[in-house]
Amino acid sequence: MNGERNNGITGESSRRDFLRSSTAAAVGVSMAGSLAISRSAHAAGDDTIKVGLIGCGGRGSGAANNAMNAGKDVKLIAMADVFEDHLKGSRERLRKIKPDQVAVDDDHCFVGFDAYQKLIQSGVDVVLIACASHFHPVHLKAAVDAGKHVFVEKPHAIDAPGIRSVMATCEEAKKKNLSIVSGLCWRYHTGVRETMKRVMDGGHRQYRRHPGNLHAQPLRAPPAQTGVE
Ligand SMILES: NC(=O)c1ccc[n+]([C@@H]2O[C@H](COP(=O)([O-])OP(=O)(O)OC[C@H]3O[C@@H](n4cnc5c(N)ncnc54)[C@H](O)[C@@H]3O)[C@@H](O)[C@H]2O)c1
Repeated sequence: MNGERNNGITGESSRRDFLRSSTAAAVGVSMAGSLAISRSAHAAGDDTIKVGLIGCGGRGSGAANNAMNAGKDVKLIAMADVFEDHLKGSRERLRKIKPDQVAVDDDHCFVGFDAYQKLIQSGVDVVLIACASHFHPVHLKAAVDAGKHVFVEKPHAIDAPGIRSVMATCEEAKKKNLSIVSGLCWRYHTGVRETMKRVMDGGHRQYRRHPGNLHAQPLRAPPAQTGVE
């Protein structure tokens, strides 16, 4: 867990970065679009959507940036991490990119294993969860229990109790009319959605097999060989 590594919000661009950011931008838009309830809950004249980030590493920082891409009235107001240097580093990088939308005062920086609870109670409307995967179910439940809309990175859980917890929390969120947006990017991919629909509808009667590969980092091209005839 290194706060200084590529945080997904730099200018460096690769196909994976493009896919990640464009997908997450769509997530940000869909999240913002689904916040009618939250907006209506605000006092008249304040349309700001207040976002809090739990887990200020690469994906969390990227997700916060993506959420703010949804509109100028989306503001990052609180951050939480187990390591202060991760949090502060992420805040500085995000401030440079979105100076008008990053409004995280020192008293809204929460550090430690209980930082997520403090963040959830700090006045945010939306919680972004992108910390170490095994904490996702606990943080998700706490956010929904507190009536917050959530974006949660995948994997949402890494074991059976965690998965059961996430399923129960999703049911609870439905009852409360809260949005849970998954970081599983393929859910927002038009081609994948259409294929899934056709398979589930039985339209692909000749469907036999679908080979699929995801080549993620750290796959690299082998070094070029020189001197070979
Ligand atoms: N990096 C990606 O491209 C990517 C893509 C999809 C999903 N994800 C998922 O997003 C999550 C984060 O990945 P990452 O690459 O940003 O990792 P990372 O290690 O860069 O960042 C994780 C951050 O969360 C913090 N953290 C860990 N436990 C915490 C806790 N209990 N409370 C608060 N903060 C905590 C760490 O200190 C660190 O700053 C993981 O679940 C990962 O699987 C990452």
